[in-house]
Amino acid sequence: AMDMHSHIDRILWTEDQISLRISQLAAQIVQDFPAPSSPPVFVGVLTGASIFLADLVRKINLPITIDFVSSKSYGSGTVSNCAPTISRDLNVDVNGRHVILVEDIVDTGHTLYKLIGHMKSKGASSVSVCTLLDKPARRKVDVQLVGEGKFYQGFECPDNFVVGYGMDFDELYRNLPYIGVLKPEHYS
Ligand code: PRP
Ligand code: MN
Ligand code: MG
Repeated sequence: AMDMHSHIDRILWTEDQISLRISQLAAQIVQDFPAPSSPPVFVGVLTGASIFLADLVRKINLPITIDFVSSKSYGSGTVSNCAPTISRDLNVDVNGRHVILVEDIVDTGHTLYKLIGHMKSKGASSVSVCTLLDKPARRKVDVQLVGEGKFYQGFECPDNFVVGYGMDFDELYRNLPYIGVLKPEHYS
């Protein structure tokens, strides 16, 4: 069918559930990084985190900085690559600043592991992680420990390949306003 929604087998989190959870995450972050301490740098990991970051930062009533890095781990398949590459680096200087890496999903943890190390090498005074989804079933690297900062998690994700709200299958479905699982015939 032409309609994108008809490709979805089931919805895991609705727009309203996502929005409510993001409000809670934003409130936690504001508590942990109160003004007038140095404003954190929110670093979105392109492309998946773009929609989450946009919604999250608009619920943060603090003067913050936004930047993006780009990292690819899946290519066009559904299996994560253990050697993600950074294909777009930061524009802002994070030396001496608190960084909050914003992710749509942590799967094996390889992407975040690499990015946490990268932020530290640039002199970040702390590196926290805010991920909308956490999929512990696939974890290879314990990114909650290497960050030494806070770890914010929206929802725990079952071991399915999910799409929507920034997450793609083969560069499609990022624009779904909710998060769901595709019908099997569309994973090909
Ligand atoms: C996905 C997702 C995370 C990463 C998680 O990005 O958005 O960034 O994989 O996987 P990992 O924990 O196993 O490293 P992807 O590489 O598909 O790029 P994209 O954000 O452009 O879709
Ligand atoms: Mn990504
Ligand atoms: Mg992807």
